[in-house]
Amino acid sequence: MLNSNTSWLVPEIMDVVRLFDCEGEDFVHYFFFDGGKYINCIQHMGEITDFSYSADTHDDIEFKRYAKRSAKLAFYELLQKFTGKTFPYGALTGIRPTKLAYMEMAEGRVFKELFNIMHVSAENTDFVGRVIQVQQPYYANKGGQELFISLPFCPTKCRYCSFITAPISATKQYVETYISCVERELASLKPILKRVNSIYIGGGTPFVIEPDQLERIYAAIKALNLPVCEYTVEAGRPDVFTEEKLKLSKDYGVNRICVNPQSFSDITLQKIGRRHTAEQTLEAYYMAAKYGFDINIDLIAGLEGESPLDFEHSLKCAIDLHPANITVHTLSLKAGAKLKEETRRLHIEGIGEMISLSRSMLTAAGYQPYYMYRQKYQAGGHENCGWALPGKACAYNIGVMEEISHNIAVGANAISKRIYEGENRIERLASPKDIPTYISKCGKIIADRLALFGE
Ligand SMILES: C[S@@+](CC[C@H](N)C(=O)[O-])C[C@H]1O[C@@H](n2cnc3c(N)ncnc32)[C@H](O)[C@@H]1O
Ligand code: SF4
Repeated sequence: MLNSNTSWLVPEIMDVVRLFDCEGEDFVHYFFFDGGKYINCIQHMGEITDFSYSADTHDDIEFKRYAKRSAKLAFYELLQKFTGKTFPYGALTGIRPTKLAYMEMAEGRVFKELFNIMHVSAENTDFVGRVIQVQQPYYANKGGQELFISLPFCPTKCRYCSFITAPISATKQYVETYISCVERELASLKPILKRVNSIYIGGGTPFVIEPDQLERIYAAIKALNLPVCEYTVEAGRPDVFTEEKLKLSKDYGVNRICVNPQSFSDITLQKIGRRHTAEQTLEAYYMAAKYGFDINIDLIAGLEGESPLDFEHSLKCAIDLHPANITVHTLSLKAGAKLKEETRRLHIEGIGEMISLSRSMLTAAGYQPYYMYRQKYQAGGHENCGWALPGKACAYNIGVMEEISHNIAVGANAISKRIYEGENRIERLASPKDIPTYISKCGKIIADRLALFGE
């Protein structure tokens, strides 16, 4: 239990305490600011440790930022000594590493110095530098809008997934009405769409719906008369691919398709509830490749029962296909996932080795890391990272993840974001997660979005 004199620091501190799996420990924490110094005193196991952090502070925003940083560092250093553990991103929690690096650079500082203070490993600090380097052309062209359409339907629910999706057998009765709502939402966007960089139909598993239903979505997008741009369908699971859906996608101008294996081991695929085989992934891949789409492959490191050798096999199979993009996720324990009901904490042997393998093998195969993010409860404190062949990065992923363009998102669980660049501010509009609620609120969502993006 944590007892602190500063309640707004508690969530930040608990992120670090959780990282070390030390929620069961008792801490008394006292924070104060004195003579430009951020002081954190922690009483733990009968001992008191003082930690002091110095930084020039100009306003309230900076004060809070440095206070949070000092508290995290204080707990990280204490618990590192107490447990003997270290983590690849050190005391960096709750902020994307690239975002922090960009903030430091914008203020004229060398981000590597701060990462060193925060105990980020030298290897990861260099890795973040690599991602930033690859993102340069996208930053140079920042702005505009990304259009997202959410289709929250799946063939079955994967054990690790917390997404608000149920097997389509349970939600079939909503699909037609759901698509009518998406059509209404899309038609309403005409006055606010100005510079669309990309279109992304995401899931769920968009290809799980019927071809005529998919065509309704494509036709509603076509009616917006957008200029040719990156157009992705997260078609998703190999078990729902058909020539008919691929041809339809091609006819409507889709140019990127996700074929997601997660693993190339049939044993693992059964364990995680995917109900498809590695062979089906290859079939879906070759079927999609014939149409000339850029293909995105998703893998997860740390899936149940997998060793570094199993993961290496999946990486090798993915690389042999030579897709435009391979995203390597680190397994993360999410509320709402079946896995979370049975597991309190992920302790995956060899997870560090898996991430190192992904970096060395993908680099050797000519892939560049172009976007990355981290989540709470991610195995070993690692990251998710998208890798692409030169010139093949998915602009949608960079725009949305780095928040350098507006996101106009329709459908259930969609989150629109308007970026106020000069003001360092973002306004969000989240649609209901639950499908019947989304359907009943469609009119209000449309009005709210027009208000958010209106002049
Ligand atoms: C929103 S899902 C949609 C993908 C598609 N439905 C599929 O499964 O093929 C996007 C990606 O997130 C990753 N993902 C989902 N849950 C995860 C978890 N708990 N840990 C790590 N990665 C996860 C998977 O790699 C998945 O392909
Ligand atoms: S991982 Fe994909 S297919 Fe599996 S439940 Fe989540 S969204 Fe659906």
